[in-house]
Amino acid sequence: MAKRIDVSGLSAYYGNHKAIDDISMTVEPRSVTAFIGPSGCGKSTFLRTLNRMHEVTPGGRVEGKVMLDDENLYGSGVDPVAVRRTVGMVFQRPNPFPTMSIFDNVAAGLRLNGSYKKAELAEIVERSLKGANLWNEVKDRLNKPGSGLSGGQQQRLCIARAIAVEPDVLLMDEPCSALDPISTLAIEDLIGELKERFTIVIVTHNMQQAARVSDRTAFFNLAAVGQPGKLIELDDTERIFSNPSVQATEDYISGRFG
Ligand SMILES: Nc1ncnc2c1ncn2[C@@H]1O[C@H](COP(=O)(O)OP(=O)(O)OP(=O)(O)O)[C@@H](O)[C@H]1O
Ligand SMILES: [Mg+2]
Repeated sequence: MAKRIDVSGLSAYYGNHKAIDDISMTVEPRSVTAFIGPSGCGKSTFLRTLNRMHEVTPGGRVEGKVMLDDENLYGSGVDPVAVRRTVGMVFQRPNPFPTMSIFDNVAAGLRLNGSYKKAELAEIVERSLKGANLWNEVKDRLNKPGSGLSGGQQQRLCIARAIAVEPDVLLMDEPCSALDPISTLAIEDLIGELKERFTIVIVTHNMQQAARVSDRTAFFNLAAVGQPGKLIELDDTERIFSNPSVQATEDYISGRFG
């Protein structure tokens, strides 16, 4: 639970196109790390290399190493499906399984992973929905479809589904970008609570959000269109937003480009 990620020399390709180049960084456990940078600099690509989802894209290929504590996720004999269980992901658009009930949405990953007694399953579903701050809103309609919830509720349902299997890491790719401000704040509060238990990485275009929720911030950038994205700077969030070491970071966070 809440393991440290240590990336070294990581590059990712789509066919011949190199999308990110030679990234090395650590992501600390029980904290939130924000990825920021202009569109196309490879934030989502990099995020997907952290749970071996990148290689699912046709032509998707990775070089380098991702350690989760002492296990290399790209080591020989490592099962990518098992990696995706320990490194969970929440996407930009809430994507509950549309025909499944709220209960079954949260239970889906558990049912795939093992056999649980009915009461056990009910207990984990309740705990996960509570953990995602959604329980009070849905406890009387657990058998209704997940698609009947509001966007913000659906996103919290997806978070409940992700945490139900007790991952080590939670990756979030612009999890609030389709949500209204109230739901956004609810998710941000939730992230603050979840970081007690998980290692969290969040991609965001919202600088205020990065400043509010993250402990450390990584700024990615492209030297030019068509060039691969690079990690420019990683530091405490407070420092990135007050006194970054690199001019390009300063320009980006003050809105001068991107
Ligand atoms: N499925 C794909 N096939 C080919 N190229 C891709 C694919 N997905 C992304 N790319 C390319 O990889 C590069 C990085 O894209 P990526 O989506 O990781 O950027 P991003 O930083 O997440 O951007 P945004 O902020 O717009 O979400 C871009 O040049 C993009 O065009
Ligand atoms: Mg993206």
